[in-house]
Amino acid sequence: MLSLKALIFSKKDNMTVEVLKDYHSLSERAAGLLIEQIKKKKDSVLCFASGDTPRLTLQMMVEKAKAEAVNYSEIQFIGLDEWVGISPETSGSCSSFFYETFLSPLQVPKENIHLFDAMAADLQGECFKMDRIIGELGGIDVMVVGIGVNGHIGFNEPNTPWNLQSHVAQLHEITRTVGQKYFEGSTDLTEGITLGFQHLLDARNLLLMASGTGKSGIVKAALTEPCSEKIPASVVRRHVQSLILLDAHAASSLSPQAPAVE
Ligand code: PGA
Repeated sequence: MLSLKALIFSKKDNMTVEVLKDYHSLSERAAGLLIEQIKKKKDSVLCFASGDTPRLTLQMMVEKAKAEAVNYSEIQFIGLDEWVGISPETSGSCSSFFYETFLSPLQVPKENIHLFDAMAADLQGECFKMDRIIGELGGIDVMVVGIGVNGHIGFNEPNTPWNLQSHVAQLHEITRTVGQKYFEGSTDLTEGITLGFQHLLDARNLLLMASGTGKSGIVKAALTEPCSEKIPASVVRRHVQSLILLDAHAASSLSPQAPAVE
């Protein structure tokens, strides 16, 4: 039984793992940290994953905007990934998620929003463009990611080399199946366009969040099995400054006596 709101589970030089009691507390913690970052550096370059995990964090950042007098007008917003062939207007696309939950309510200036165009004829060109933008912005201050049940982050599926920048990925069966949850009807999901792990490793801060028992097995694998491209999310242990926020359900397979081995 967790008696603290946030139990520091494991602290290493480069990685901190915190366990929060539930999804709400986890999201509140993440939103608080991100707001702190923006108050410290108003033109912070933030990269966000879409999906169910960061949804409440983004909503809380919107809710707290007024009360905490946060100025979001100068942030630079980068979308982690997008489903290839899905238009930004399609409900369920990463772009529509970002606009609905965060960008539209906060009226983030268009020129500060950097999302993949997954309908582009030249997807490789889209990748180069995103890499160039990130370079011109001076790199990512905070990268906020979730974890898929197969260990992917963004569309970096198992066995993807860790030194890639933006790229187009063939989606694994499990990603295609799980991804249906975002869409209203059955949707053809074959490829994704995504930032690579070189971006993740180069980001000044990394925040990985996981919630729910469905993620507990892969969280345990990512944090305790040997770091390997077979388990993409194990890359977080190679990052110089990573914070892993878990709710008690996602942390339920971890033993406090046997935290990360590396
Ligand atoms: P979720 O997706 O946040 O909707 O669980 C995570 C992922 O598959 O990357």
